[in-house]
This record gives sequence, structure tokens and C-alpha cells, in this order.
Amino acid sequence: MSGEKGGIEIHRGLKGVYFDRSPTCFIDGRAGELRYRGYSIHDLARHSTFEETACLLLEGELPDAAGIENFRARLRAARELPGAIYDIIRSIAHAHPMEVLRTAVSALGAFDPEGADNSREATCRKGVRLAAQVPMIVAAHDNIRKGRKPVPARPDLGHAANFLHMLKGEAPSEDAARLMDVDMLLHAEHGSNASSFAARVVTGTEANLHASLTAAVAALSGPAHGGAAENVMRMAQEVAEPANAAAYVKAKRRRREPIMGFGHRVYRAEDPRARHMREGVERLSREMGQPHWFDILQALVDAMAPYARHGIHVNVDFYAGVVYYLNGISEDLFVPIFAIGRVPGWTVQVLEQLDQNILIRPLTHYTGPAPRDYVPIDRR
Ligand code: CMC
Repeated sequence: MSGEKGGIEIHRGLKGVYFDRSPTCFIDGRAGELRYRGYSIHDLARHSTFEETACLLLEGELPDAAGIENFRARLRAARELPGAIYDIIRSIAHAHPMEVLRTAVSALGAFDPEGADNSREATCRKGVRLAAQVPMIVAAHDNIRKGRKPVPARPDLGHAANFLHMLKGEAPSEDAARLMDVDMLLHAEHGSNASSFAARVVTGTEANLHASLTAAVAALSGPAHGGAAENVMRMAQEVAEPANAAAYVKAKRRRREPIMGFGHRVYRAEDPRARHMREGVERLSREMGQPHWFDILQALVDAMAPYARHGIHVNVDFYAGVVYYLNGISEDLFVPIFAIGRVPGWTVQVLEQLDQNILIRPLTHYTGPAPRDYVPIDRR
């Protein structure tokens, strides 16, 4: 925040500005606490599933046995893409998966039977359909660009396991599926982050869910938001040895560059989501005989220790990238996987915006030239 003449206060990046109320996501940045509708993220990560958490977010309460079966059936039923979407994916198969995802989500709006219906009920149904379709787009693109045919969904598999099956053409181990399930659950919602805010801005104009989620995917693609996981893996490869971590951090900070996977707009303590991914990296890297990845990450944490007193700690993306890497997933799919997890969160933010919709239209304080006369082109 910085004061300006005339009593105007400028909040660059809208830092610390509350723009609405929300019953969904509680974040205490100082304590490092995150809750979805009152439930601690730690309890959900230990005991819940992506589907159950998505249901909690979209419907307000944890489902009972019949409720979760109904929700799973809705997801299964929506696991199909129109042929034209595959054609679009083929025509831009060379592009970054986030560009493909953004384009395909936008195009899906033209095929959804309720595309233009902005009622709460239709928006919720569209959100569930998109939750099922987004992983299909990501997996189909990866197969197509590698010269393979898209792998059909398997109705007997849960959301995360089916995604891994579609991506690799074989059912994942129970452990790999559970780790991906927890990863998606941890990413499912996070308050007024940049992509959710982008979705709300678009909804504020009364545009539909597909338009809002297209904007959300676009916002997520940047390295300051979802793109960090991809960069963390590159950083770990660049560091190569735990012994190089301190020099790497020093050199980066000398150039005033951020260390990827550290820092957060809201958290001043460790991002509570990071703990579960750290456990996953530690276990997976030892099981797969590649413990150096975990050791490199820990060496980076040690090298960053002096920044902790400035509130800079690891965020959710720090460990996630290595989990995906160890699962044999291409680096450029790390952000799309974040997007797969975030669809319920984006949808719930849009639903909240719709509940009491208002155009989001802040102000910029003019600092340009004083009024002046137009000068014809031949006299400039
Ligand atoms: N490494 C080193 N210093 C940092 C870092 C970092 N990763 N992040 C912030 N700082 C410093 C920054 O240099 C600044 O110092 P000074 O006041 O001396 O200039 C101070 O901390 C405040 O930083 P800021 O940029 O004003 O903070 P912000 O709230 O605008 O930025 C952020 C938040 C996430 C963009 C930033 O921390 C960053 O670029 N991190 C690396 C990228 C990353 O990991 N992003 C994933 C975020 S979590 C997943 C998600 O929800 O999207």
C-alpha cells in the first residue's frame, strides 16, 4: 500500500484487500492454516479423496455413501469429449499443454448443452462436467503429441487413477494413484488466488462458466502462480547436487530473482499443503532409488532458512513437481495437473460470485499528462 495525493490509497496487486465474503476457504497465512468449509486440509489429505472434497466444496457438506456414489457417477458419465475437441487438440498439438487446455476449455463452451445457462444449478452441472473433461484434455493432448491415440477413460477407476491411466495407458499403482489423489485434493481450492479472481472478474460481467474457466486457466499458466512446479523441477536439475544448493540460492538472490516454490502472497508460515507433498517426495524418491531429489530439495530449504524470518517458506509447488517427475510425467504437464485439481475451486468461486453477482471494476489513479490540445499529425 502506498499513500497518494488527495487521500487516495493505492493497493498494488490488491495486496491485503478483501473484496467479498466466502464460506468456503479459510486461510490463516500467519499460522499456516487452511480449511475447506471448516475441515482442516491435513484431515482431508489424510482421510478424504478428491471426489469427496470436490463434493464438499460444490455442495457444502461432506457426502454420505449414496451422495459420493452419485457424485462419482456424474463424473464418470461426463468422461467424454466431442470429436471436434480432439480435432482442435490435434491442430495445436505442438503448443504448451496449458495453451491447449485453455483453448479446449474455451471451445467446450460451444458444445456444452447448457453452455449459456448461468443458473446456479446449470453452472454446478457444468462444473462437474468440466472436472471430468479437463483431465481428458490433458491426457489426450499428451498422447496425441507423442504420436499415440487418446486412451479411453476407465469407469472403474477414481478421478486421479483414471487420469494416470489415460496419461500412461496403464492403471497406476495404488500408491501412485493415492499420491495424485491427495495432490489434486490439496490444489482443489485456495480462496481468492489469481486464477480464481480472474474467474470471478469474468463471472462479474455475467459471462458463462466456460468463459470464466478459460480466464482462470490463462491466469494459472504464469510462473508466479501455477507455473512454479515446472520451474522447481528445472531448478532441482540445475542444482544437481545438494552441495550446490547454497551457491545456487546466493547467485539467484544476487540477481534478485525469486527461488521457485518459495514465498506466497498470503502465507507467512509454511504453506500447509507442502507437508503432504514433502512426505510423498521423501517416500517416492527413496522407494525409486533416487533419494538425491529429496536431498536436493532439503538442501534448498536449508539454504533458504535465513529468509524464513521474512516470512518466506516453501509453498505447495515446491515438492509437487518432483512427485510428478518421479511418476514419469513430463514437466510441462505439472501446471495442467494443478488445473485438474482446481476445477472444483474455480467452479465454487464462480457460484459464489453468481449468488450476489456484481461487476468487479476497481479504479486506477490517473498520473498521466495534464489536459492538452490535440495536435494534427503534420505538426507533431
Ligand atoms: N525467493 C526469494 N525471495 C522472495 C521469494 C522467493 N521465492 N518470494 C518473495 N521473496 C521476497 C521478495 O524479493 C520481496 O523482497 P523485498 O521486499 O526485499 O523486495 C519479498 O519477499 C516480498 O515478495 P513479493 O514479491 O512482494 O511477494 P508477493 O506476494 O508479491 O509474491 C509470489 C508472491 C508467489 C509471486 C512470490 O513469492 C514468488 O515469485 N515465488 C516464486 C514463485 C512461486 O513459487 N509461485 C507459486 C506460488 S504458490 C502456488 C499458487 O497458489 O499459485
